[in-house]
This record gives sequence, structure tokens and C-alpha cells, in this order.
Amino acid sequence: MHKDSIEIKDVFHVYETQTGPLPVLKNLSLTFPKNSFTAVVGPSGCGKSTLTRLISGLLIPDSGSVSIFGEKIEKPRASVGMAFQNPVLLEWRTILQNVILPLEIVGSTLSTNQRKERARHLLKLVGLEEFEDKRPSELSGGMRQRASLCRALMHKPEVLILDEPFGALDAFTREDLWQVMHMLRKEEPFTGVLITHDLRESVFLTDQVVVLSGRPAATQYILDIPNLNERSLDDLYTPQTIEMLNNLRLQIKIAQQRD
Ligand SMILES: Nc1ncnc2c1ncn2[C@@H]1O[C@H](COP(=O)(O)OP(=O)(O)O)[C@@H](O)[C@H]1O
Ligand SMILES: [Mg+2]
Repeated sequence: MHKDSIEIKDVFHVYETQTGPLPVLKNLSLTFPKNSFTAVVGPSGCGKSTLTRLISGLLIPDSGSVSIFGEKIEKPRASVGMAFQNPVLLEWRTILQNVILPLEIVGSTLSTNQRKERARHLLKLVGLEEFEDKRPSELSGGMRQRASLCRALMHKPEVLILDEPFGALDAFTREDLWQVMHMLRKEEPFTGVLITHDLRESVFLTDQVVVLSGRPAATQYILDIPNLNERSLDDLYTPQTIEMLNNLRLQIKIAQQRD
């Protein structure tokens, strides 16, 4: 178990279903270094969301181990922040109150004013400072997802898990959110795991892209992405990036055939 990484070691997991046992993870081993940002891609239904449940401690594997910074995961962890495709913000709370929610759930030594201050700081970072008193339904999809990212980061989680957070947004809004993610990463330290179907997104946002094989999923391929700090949207059209994208596309095809 390593102090400086999230380690998934030799994990096997089988779901019991009405039609019999369904093996989803088979001999899966992965390392996410502290403060890195990793994208996980792979065929639909291969076990990506299952992997996020392992990291957050919502699921304990049949065999193998998951450890976060040297600590074996045996129950759900509070130091994980999560955001999903559907932001699930609570309509009876304002945006500010939604962002503060994790502190009410996990508990905090911060005063009410300090909580508001932190939430406002995050909302300002993502350009929502004028919207703290609105209800979720008064915001656009992209704005709701911004608020959801603030909420996921509110309690300064060690690990940030994003399960297809931008999947439902239109292409331009998605690119805006990518820039927001870059900025958040500079401002807020976290070790990130991003599940996505969008290869451009994986290459633009992260330091390494893991391709999972078809179900039962194991690690099929890992691509290291250079130069995170200097990335701009224009870089998505350079020959080096296009080569990386083609490479990943090929790996996805191989993964789909195994399925
Ligand atoms: N709690 C569960 N019980 C039984 N089967 C499940 C459960 N959760 C997911 N599955 C099945 O396990 C497989 C992997 O699911 P999931 O990890 O959600 O895949 P992905 O996120 O890669 O699309 C799918 O076939 C899904 O139907
Ligand atoms: Mg999923």
C-alpha cells in the first residue's frame, strides 16, 4: 500500500443478478498518483461506475484491495467528492445552500459564515457569484453542472470522482466546462478520476488515460499525456493530439471487440 497514491490491486468483482452472476472486474490493477488527474474510458457497461464505487468505498470488492494514500478502504469515505451526469441539486435549497450541503452531511468545524465564505469563493471561481440565491431549476444545464462541481469540492475532498459529468451538455458548453475544470485544478488540490466517453475531453483534462477492456474489465492500455499546465483548446487540433486520439480510438475498438 502506497502513501502517495490510490492503489487498486488485483480486484475481482461479481454482481449477483436475476440471471446469475455477472463478473464486472477481473484482475483489475491501477495506480492513481496523489494530485494526478486520470481519465477512465472503456465500452459502455464494462465496469467504470463500479470502479468509482470501489474508490469511494460504497462497494467492497470480492477480492483484491483498494487503498487511498496508504489506507485500505473498508467503508464509505467522507474525503471523496463526487459529481455525475445529472447534478441532483435539491430544488428546495438555493444554489449556495446546495453547495454547502456536503459540510452538513460529513460535519465540519467551520462556522456558518465560514461555510458561506467557502461556498461563495467556489461559486465565484466558476462564474456563478450572481446566482447563489437562485434555485437549481432557474439555472441552465451548464450552470447546474458548475454548481455541482463546487458542491463536490466544498469539503476539500482528497479524491474527486467525476462520472461522465459533462456527458449531457452541448459541445460548446462542454468546452466551457473543460476550461472551468482546468482552472479549478489550479486553485483546488485534489486527486481526480474522470469517467468519460469523450476522448478529446480525456486528453484535454487529464495526465493519464486508462482504457478498460470490455466486461469483465481489466486495464487494457494506459496513455500518459504530457504538459498539463500549458494546455489550451487549440492544442486539441495539433498533430500530436490527433495521434493520441487515434491511438485511443483504436484501443476502444479493441476493447469493444472483446466485449
Ligand atoms: N448493483 C448492481 N447489480 C447488478 N448488476 C449491476 C449493478 N451495477 C451495475 N451492474 C451491471 O454491471 C455492469 C457494469 O456496470 P457499470 O459499472 O455501471 O458500467 P459502466 O459505468 O462502465 O457503463 C453493467 O452490465 C451493469 O448492468
Ligand atoms: Mg457508468
